[in-house]
Amino acid sequence: MKKSSLLFIKDLPRLSDLGDELLLIHDDILPKKSASFRKWMKQFSLRYPVKAGESLKSVDQFPNHISKIVKLCEGASARRLTLVVVGGGSVGDFGGFVASILKRGVRLVHLPSTWLSAIDSAHGGKTALNVGSAKNQIGTFYPAEKIILSRTLLLSQPEARAFEGFGELLKIALISGGTLWKDLSREYEVHADTLWKYLARSIDAKYKEVAKDPEEKSGHRHVLNLGHTVGHVLESSFELPHGIAINYGLDFALRFSLHKKIITPKEYEKLMLSPVMGYLLSPIRDELLQSKESVLKEFRRQLLSDKKKTGASTLRFVFLKKPGQCVIREVPVDEILMEIVRQKEDELYD
Ligand SMILES: NC(=O)c1ccc[n+]([C@@H]2O[C@H](COP(=O)([O-])OP(=O)(O)OC[C@H]3O[C@@H](n4cnc5c(N)ncnc54)[C@H](O)[C@@H]3O)[C@@H](O)[C@H]2O)c1
Ligand SMILES: [Zn+2]
Repeated sequence: MKKSSLLFIKDLPRLSDLGDELLLIHDDILPKKSASFRKWMKQFSLRYPVKAGESLKSVDQFPNHISKIVKLCEGASARRLTLVVVGGGSVGDFGGFVASILKRGVRLVHLPSTWLSAIDSAHGGKTALNVGSAKNQIGTFYPAEKIILSRTLLLSQPEARAFEGFGELLKIALISGGTLWKDLSREYEVHADTLWKYLARSIDAKYKEVAKDPEEKSGHRHVLNLGHTVGHVLESSFELPHGIAINYGLDFALRFSLHKKIITPKEYEKLMLSPVMGYLLSPIRDELLQSKESVLKEFRRQLLSDKKKTGASTLRFVFLKKPGQCVIREVPVDEILMEIVRQKEDELYD
């Protein structure tokens, strides 16, 4: 898979640096939030604003979108057209998919506008649509030619959103270990500026993992799902933002790793005493882990629909042995449910 070129800039890019004939697909919230974006976007003669969210990725809506997009760029040549996608992960997944099939594939530039997309989803080339409530069931591998990280665009998000990006930053730092983890682990406070500071290194770390298994063939790329198995269940059960759910999912995975004796108590303690891990502790998380039978039934149904299923009732779970060393094991879904109950009860006696 070809590597996307990365550009870190302060403001928004010049159109002449993006390509010859440009089609802009953007989150319709952006012009409402920022006058400079409004001014910038008006320079594009071909524009397609979209409403971000999972419904944008719905396969049922797709024929309607693609008909309008094809009509919009009727006169454009496939060879010269560049699709510029500005938005968070949902707009990126949708726009990336469009770029991969429009005129049998056109050039793609991503300008992520959320921390989550800047750290994670814009990189690695995965595009996706949802089928009914099943997320990301359809997609292509289609890396952007260029990914532009604009500080102004990212800082235009409310500061609270930085906490959502933090989950993905922590995830990649734990997976990659080394100096990225060492430096991040010593941060007492995490703000939007902290995320900007670690952005280039966290993206680099993601590329290193993706490069070992670009199209998810060997299974190595699965380490990037650290924290995501239970994270996804919490995300859909309680309609949490993805990044928040991942924070809780990471905490779950670390405690599960301790319980399974994959991480030693000494290593776990060292990890949890790192200043940055204070951000993982949350009273809300403990309310979300449920031991009620009806809720567990729903969790079970969701775990069984996980794409990482390996058998009728087992899936691949990513554990952490130490920062920089993940262990992937096949685990029965019922064992994950038992662990949810165990962690919930553990909390009651703390
Ligand atoms: N392709 C991948 O590898 C990959 C990886 C992880 C997640 N994802 C996908 O990413 C999506 C989640 O990402 P997300 O949270 O960025 O999604 P999103 O695009 O839904 O954005 C979240 C919210 O932020 C708003 N927003 C975007 N930019 C803003 C800005 N600058 N200021 C204020 N508000 C802004 C959006 O309008 C939306 O309401 C999910 O669909 C998930 O499946 C994909
Ligand atoms: Zn994620």
